[in-house]
Amino acid sequence: MADPQELLGLAEDVARRAGALLRDGLARPRLAVDTKSTGTDMVTEMDRAAEALIVDGLLGIRRDDGMLGEEGTDRAGTSGVRWVVDPLDGTTNYLYRMAGFGVSIAAEVDGVITVGVVYDIVHDELFAATRGGGATRDGAPITVSAQEDLASALVGTGFAYDADRRRRQAEVLVTVLPRIRDIRRLGAAAVDLCSVACGRLDGYYERGLAAWDLAAGGLIATEAGATVSGFTVGPASAAGVVAAAPGIADELRGLVHGAGAADA
Ligand code: IPD
Ligand code: CA
Ligand code: CA
Repeated sequence: MADPQELLGLAEDVARRAGALLRDGLARPRLAVDTKSTGTDMVTEMDRAAEALIVDGLLGIRRDDGMLGEEGTDRAGTSGVRWVVDPLDGTTNYLYRMAGFGVSIAAEVDGVITVGVVYDIVHDELFAATRGGGATRDGAPITVSAQEDLASALVGTGFAYDADRRRRQAEVLVTVLPRIRDIRRLGAAAVDLCSVACGRLDGYYERGLAAWDLAAGGLIATEAGATVSGFTVGPASAAGVVAAAPGIADELRGLVHGAGAADA
């Protein structure tokens, strides 16, 4: 039986080491860049180098674990533990040297996300959670905002890389934006979820997240007291994520669903 605290300690160490590698990469004058699903979906040599470091760091110590990583790692294990990894969430920001990127590492135990770590490289902040154990930033407990008024809520969102989906997502925003305080599009979903967890955002919604975008940040937000769901009832998934302070969660979910987010 895997000890969540042991998994957490390992994930924290490896996330910090990957973060240091990525920080060093910012000093390179030029980064090799390829595109993936669309011309706007980029991957740099540093995304791949960070994933390689994380694979070595986790599986070097826990040889029987499985792993799913955004940059191609897909390995079945035998221990019941599977790591779900986004080695660099916020690649576009990273490439443009804009704030808003980090490392996301989650551990599933027997299919249940049990440990989550997001290292926000720009702020040098480490967000962490274990299922049922609460959420922390640099070791101190964090909680969601006390916001109860949707009209006064600061809400994050994100856009997919597919052009048609982006157009529909912009149409959803036309309905959502006049009903809230303002919108933020940071460009790093895992960091957005941690921003909800610590009250920097009152809420966040997005459609089209991959497992590695959602796994760690979703647990951290939940453990910080956020209501995390899909656009209607049911769990958050690629089909839709709403993470919000409980005081606005139902209303925000209703707003984005009514605006057509599930079809965007
Ligand atoms: C992306 C970012 C972005 C979100 C996209 C993700 P990447 O991840 O998290 O904020 O809107 O849905 O794909 O490509 O930078 O790892
Ligand atoms: Ca990502
Ligand atoms: Ca990524």
